[in-house]
Parts: sequence; C-alpha cells; structure tokens
Amino acid sequence: MSRIAYVNGRYRNLRDACVNVEDRGYQFADGVYEVCEVRGRKLVDFPRHMARLQRSLRELRIAEPMPLSALGIVMREVVRRNRVIYGLVYLQVTRGVARRDHAFPPTTVKPSIVVTARPLNYAKNQQTAANGIKVVTVPENRWPRVDIKSVSLLPNVLAKQEAREKGAYEAWYVGSDGFITEGASSNAWIVTKDGRVVTRSAESGILAGITRAVLMEVMEALQIRLEERPFTPAEAREAAEAFVTSASQIVMPVVAIDGQIVGNGRPGAVARRLREEFHRFSAFS
Ligand code: PDD
Repeated sequence: MSRIAYVNGRYRNLRDACVNVEDRGYQFADGVYEVCEVRGRKLVDFPRHMARLQRSLRELRIAEPMPLSALGIVMREVVRRNRVIYGLVYLQVTRGVARRDHAFPPTTVKPSIVVTARPLNYAKNQQTAANGIKVVTVPENRWPRVDIKSVSLLPNVLAKQEAREKGAYEAWYVGSDGFITEGASSNAWIVTKDGRVVTRSAESGILAGITRAVLMEVMEALQIRLEERPFTPAEAREAAEAFVTSASQIVMPVVAIDGQIVGNGRPGAVARRLREEFHRFSAFS
C-alpha cells in the first residue's frame, strides 16, 4: 500500500508529494510542527496539540492556515488513508512560498501545510519500554525559544546523532548552569529515592510537552508527588528511576545515563505504572 500525504489542499502519494523549493520551511526552517500519537485509529490529546500549535504560530506570527477543526479533519483523513491503527500523525505549517529573502514575505503569502502519518510497531515499542533506554548528556546548543515547536531542529538532530553514536537512544541537554533541560525530542524526568517525581518547570528551557502535561494529571489522580524543579546529571544518575516523555514514546524508562546505570538498571515501578495508566487520562478524538 502506498503512503499518502496531504500537501496544500491535496492528498498525494508520498513519492509525488512535494513542496516548492522556495518554501520558507525548506529555505529557513521557518515553520512549526506537531506530532500526535494515533491509537485505535484515534488522535490522542488532539485539542492540546492544536492549542500548542496555535501558540507556536502566534509566537512566530504565521497565520493559521485553516480553522483548527478543519485541520483535525485533514489529520484524521491522512490517518484513515494510511490505515494507521497505532502510530503517529505529523503536521507541519510553514510561512509559505516566496522569493528567498530573510524578512517575512507579504501577508498575501499563504502558509504551507503538510500532513503525514505512519504506523509504529506496538510490540517493538513495548519491548523497548520493557528494557528501558540509555541516554547521554550533551551541552545545550539550541536557541532560547525552545518553547516554540519550530522545525529548526538541527541542534536536536546533532544531539540525537551523538547519542546514537554512543550507543544511547536519547540525548539530555545540560544548560550552562549545569542543570538538565530536556531531551533532544522528549522531556526528562527522574524519580527520587523517596518516590517524588521531578521534572523541570516549563517556564524556561524546555518545550511544554503535551505528554508531560497529561502525565501531571495522571500523577495527581494517582497521588504521586510531583516536584517541578531543575535537576543535574549527578542527581539523575543517583536517582531511583528516570524516564522520558513524548507523543511517540509516551513514558519511556531510562536505565542508564552516561554509561552509569540508574536504580537497578531495570525500568522502575513508577515509570512502568505511569506508562500503563497514561491512556486512561488522555483524550481520544
Ligand atoms: N518531540 N521536547 C522536545 C524537544 C520535543 O521535540 C518533544 C516532542 C517533547 C515532548 O513533547 P510532546 O509530549 O508534546 O510530544 C519535548 C516530538 C515527538 C518529535 O519531535 O518527534
């Protein structure tokens, strides 16, 4: 079955799905994106993803390409046409096509929209979660506006590649103040020896993850104590547990940081429980 992408009003075979070479997403990474999990053919926490998209667009002064409800219809249609039961749907909005000039083009230039979807291997992801992943720390190398979900991901690409070359799955950024900010494509969490779950506040240095926000509601319902504060690599290595969150991995246990095992080197009970409970608290649409 060939994969289908939505590009600026048309559903096309992926191999024919093209954007203009003067698209500002291609020329300047001048655009934003969202990634939603698909479960049982449904979009997970779609309204929250749309609220974050709206915010990212507003911060960059890119016009909303279409009403968000219509965008939802397109995203569901791409999921349907690709027969995704479990997987991801990707949405990208750029400032549109214009002759190359750094400053914004006239407001008559319409934003470009691309939507793709692909299945994930559920059994494989469950196996990865059962084993846990390794992370390595890397120096923070991004611009300060990491709160915007921008497609300018070159620093994240380099960090992730460094992790892979060191045999790890994710890179955790460490700021110049010595505190961990977040992962190259996930939020970072630890569990202290007395059972408190710690993650950095979304006020600075991180993307406000949707999985992170929903997980905080899960923890409240399960009466798991939460501390929003920064933590260092040393505290993380000595923690009882560590994990990352993102739409693609939900709660993924971390079993080693910079080659040192965390806890007993197996996924921790808190992370496992949060992973199991997560979808009871997420919205499906
Ligand atoms: N990444 N921090 C960064 C830098 C991210 O790229 C992501 C998501 C997150 C977690 O956000 P959420 O829980 O809303 O997915 C945090 C997506 C999945 C990606 O780039 O593929």
